[in-house]
Amino acid sequence: TESNQFCDAGIEYGESSCGVSSSSSKILIKGGTVVNAHREEVADVYVEDGIIVAVKPNIKVGDDVTVLDATGKFVMPGGIDPHTHLSFEFMGTETVDDFFYGQAAALAGGTTMHIDFVIPVSGSLTAGFEAYEKKAKKSCMDYGFHMAITKWDEVVSKEMEIMVKEKGINSFKFFLAYKGALMINDELLLEGFKKCKSLGALAMVHAENGDAVYEGQKRMIELGIFGPEGHALSRPSLLEGEATARAIRLAGFVNTPLYVVHVMSIDAMEEIATARRKGQRVIGEPVVSGLTLDGSGVWDPDFVTAAKFVMSPPIRASGHDKALQAALSTGILQLVGTDHCSFNSTQKALGIDDFRNIPNGVNGIEERMHLVWDIMVESGQISVTDYVRITSTECARIFNIYPRKGAILPGSDADIIIFNPNSSFEITAKSHHSRSDTNVFEGRRGKGKVEVTIAGGRIVWENDELKVVPGSGKYVEMPPFAYLFNGIDKGDAEYLSSLRAPVKRFKSTD
Ligand code: URP
Ligand code: ZN
Ligand code: ZN
Ligand code: ZN
Repeated sequence: TESNQFCDAGIEYGESSCGVSSSSSKILIKGGTVVNAHREEVADVYVEDGIIVAVKPNIKVGDDVTVLDATGKFVMPGGIDPHTHLSFEFMGTETVDDFFYGQAAALAGGTTMHIDFVIPVSGSLTAGFEAYEKKAKKSCMDYGFHMAITKWDEVVSKEMEIMVKEKGINSFKFFLAYKGALMINDELLLEGFKKCKSLGALAMVHAENGDAVYEGQKRMIELGIFGPEGHALSRPSLLEGEATARAIRLAGFVNTPLYVVHVMSIDAMEEIATARRKGQRVIGEPVVSGLTLDGSGVWDPDFVTAAKFVMSPPIRASGHDKALQAALSTGILQLVGTDHCSFNSTQKALGIDDFRNIPNGVNGIEERMHLVWDIMVESGQISVTDYVRITSTECARIFNIYPRKGAILPGSDADIIIFNPNSSFEITAKSHHSRSDTNVFEGRRGKGKVEVTIAGGRIVWENDELKVVPGSGKYVEMPPFAYLFNGIDKGDAEYLSSLRAPVKRFKSTD
């Protein structure tokens, strides 16, 4: 069978991982505290054929049902990671975690859906989509796609429409950095924003000033700084602030909602705060690395250790992490991603002589749920309902798949975790499920543990063991015109009526 192919490929999840999961299609989760973003209650959850059928106290079932005792534990929607790069071909290599291994890691950490970025093939969106459809065939959990826009012409414009109307994509990412590769200019950004608005698709930006980053890199080389610290030094937070401000203002000019991915700095966060305070529809996504690490990693004297922290925008100095956490707790930032983009130490060594060649990216898909719990809930900064909102529900709402995803309600997909707040976790490359040999969160411990993960109605993680089935994950189509577009045309009408009537000018008679 196909699953044996993966067993033979050396995946070591114990005997039970081989072949199709034997767990029953009927599951009862008894006695836990069921947490949704809108409320928590002590209740049982009954699941049949991949769907949540009932959520109420004291559900009675027959003996063909698998019963899980969740007394004293939280029963929550599985995590949704809005930002991942599985099987991503980037900077001369490809990420080690593909759609099977990356998702297996996610499931072990309580994440049951992710949204990955389709990269066009030589500018073709259609070819890019087909390539990612192939990559994702081996999926063992549900997934959706964003799409990057890397060039502009009539074909791209038409293809965006096809992606939205026929392929289930409702978001497009524009890179303001990676000059000479993925970067686009302001003219293209404006064209893209206008097209997004007309399609009801969400515009996303990687906000760093790519021209200035290029300049900063030259400076480092001239100064003789070739090591991983040169990466951080070449692209300071003011360049993230500038690009965030520019993207926000241009989105405001077009009057279309904007989603800023991987918000790494106070500079960018404050631009988002200001825009939101003025009523603009801007979403800010911090990532786990930016929320939990300080920038000291790239200064490590050991190259392998230093290089594993290289990502863009860079992980900032201590202080930015705490400020991003605070922004998340007060609603300035709305949801947490990972930007999971895992390269092993051999791949990172492509930049051993020059930081510009270190493949950019860090891990996080397996660690996100635990780390966010630890830094945000355990620390007392947010409630358990808020935790569900920022790890799952808000993502489902933004990308228009709520309440199928992001909720424990009758009719929702059975993507559920059982979380024990009294247990603990420890992160190390030795025991993680990513295929990388390093982990940027190496050695981190904290309170709380995902004890059971149910994905698509299957128990896929229990007793520290994965039972995952390649091909069982489904592509989740995401329809356009999500809540961020509600009433946006009123703003257009207001703008038009605010323009003065054209000034009538008379020719001088003499
Ligand atoms: O360093 C990063 N972030 N790698 C992934 C690509 C991106 O910019 O999201
Ligand atoms: Zn085996
Ligand atoms: Zn990016
Ligand atoms: Zn990314």
